[in-house]
Amino acid sequence: MPHETSVIIHPAKNLNGSVRLPGDKSISHRYAMLGAIAEGTTKLENFSTGADCASTLACLRSLGVECERNGASVAIHGRGAKLRAPGAPLNCGNSGSTIRMLSGILAGQVFTSELMGDESLSRRPMGRIIKPLELMGARIGSSDDSRPPLRITGAQLKAIDYKLPVASAQVKTCLLFAGLYADGTTRIEEPIQTRDHGELALQAFGGQLERRMREVSISGGQKLRAIEATVPGDISSAAFFLCAAGLFPDSQLIIPGLLLNPTRARLLDFLIGLGLRLTMGDLQEQHGELVGTLQVQGGQLKGARISGGDTTALIDEIPVLAAIAPYTADGIEIRDAQELRVKESDRIASVATNLRLMGADVEEFADGLRIPGMQKLHGAAIDSFGDHRIAMAFAVAALRADGETQIKGADAAVISYPEFFDVLDSLLQK
Ligand code: S3P
Repeated sequence: MPHETSVIIHPAKNLNGSVRLPGDKSISHRYAMLGAIAEGTTKLENFSTGADCASTLACLRSLGVECERNGASVAIHGRGAKLRAPGAPLNCGNSGSTIRMLSGILAGQVFTSELMGDESLSRRPMGRIIKPLELMGARIGSSDDSRPPLRITGAQLKAIDYKLPVASAQVKTCLLFAGLYADGTTRIEEPIQTRDHGELALQAFGGQLERRMREVSISGGQKLRAIEATVPGDISSAAFFLCAAGLFPDSQLIIPGLLLNPTRARLLDFLIGLGLRLTMGDLQEQHGELVGTLQVQGGQLKGARISGGDTTALIDEIPVLAAIAPYTADGIEIRDAQELRVKESDRIASVATNLRLMGADVEEFADGLRIPGMQKLHGAAIDSFGDHRIAMAFAVAALRADGETQIKGADAAVISYPEFFDVLDSLLQK
């Protein structure tokens, strides 16, 4: 990701208005991949506008899947279970979800494929998918320390019983997808419940699963059928506006069509605990996913500790929660978050560096951060470290700082939410 575009953020007075979010990134990836191996044409509205989901579509096209795109409307002409051998390496760009989840499908194909990505993706750990996919019978080559590029030689897979060593929805979904190509029933147990979009999407496409607490089983050889769906608004993108609203007691925000899946909505409980006033309405279920309208009012921010299962449930929102922590009364402590070190950037280090540049006191641990409350921050030139969530988190922190903040590499936001800076600007009162 080139670090070219800088954005300047000025202090604001509050945040007001209504905003509809582009489709959830996690769900967009899954619907696109399952659409590719289903029978019939999957029609998706409000598909994620981010570059990561575009990487998924580009990989699917290289695998012989016809994908038509018109803005946020996408039609995927499913090929059934069998994809076509790609003529060149599949470029997953910055997207961990693309490389990890698509690998599950490629492990069950009759050809060899290569998956690569940008500098950040090339540093991310893939042993977590390589090991179980090899147990299922695929052969996977990688760099010595299990980083991309990956060279996957597919096979007739066999089912496994597998306990995930790390809580990861990407890995769980990868193995569920591989399970479709396996002889027998694949059983996956996770240490902590992670987002369940893979399970819900498989069921939406007509797949049969058995789910029990932190265990899910899938039998191989099932046929999937195409769906028509509107992807719910991305709650992890909404988090930036929710936290920005939290900085100003007079803020009022309405977010219709928002994903409220309980495995993602811990953020809302957390923000209520922190002092925001949130109301949910118009609740509906769409293909198993809970969707509704969220009304948000600012409040006085208290403090909090995030650890254990809460850390897993809030994993993508921690950068922005950390970025508003100095403005809370009692500060925020984050623990059990070592996974943040292997995201698009080392998010513990990125947050600590940028908060310190803005004058904050921060304590850094191997697995987290302690950020005291009641701090005054000043504007500074900070870096996105090529990480979309860091770019957006610090745009939020900048709203209550003294003076202007320059975000270098702000264009990283294109990965999940290209419209972010324009939408933020339209909601702010300066
Ligand atoms: C995701 C799972 C999480 C999350 C990522 C999207 C998914 O990653 O951080 O942004 O869609 O399954 P891990 O599975 O690595 O925890």
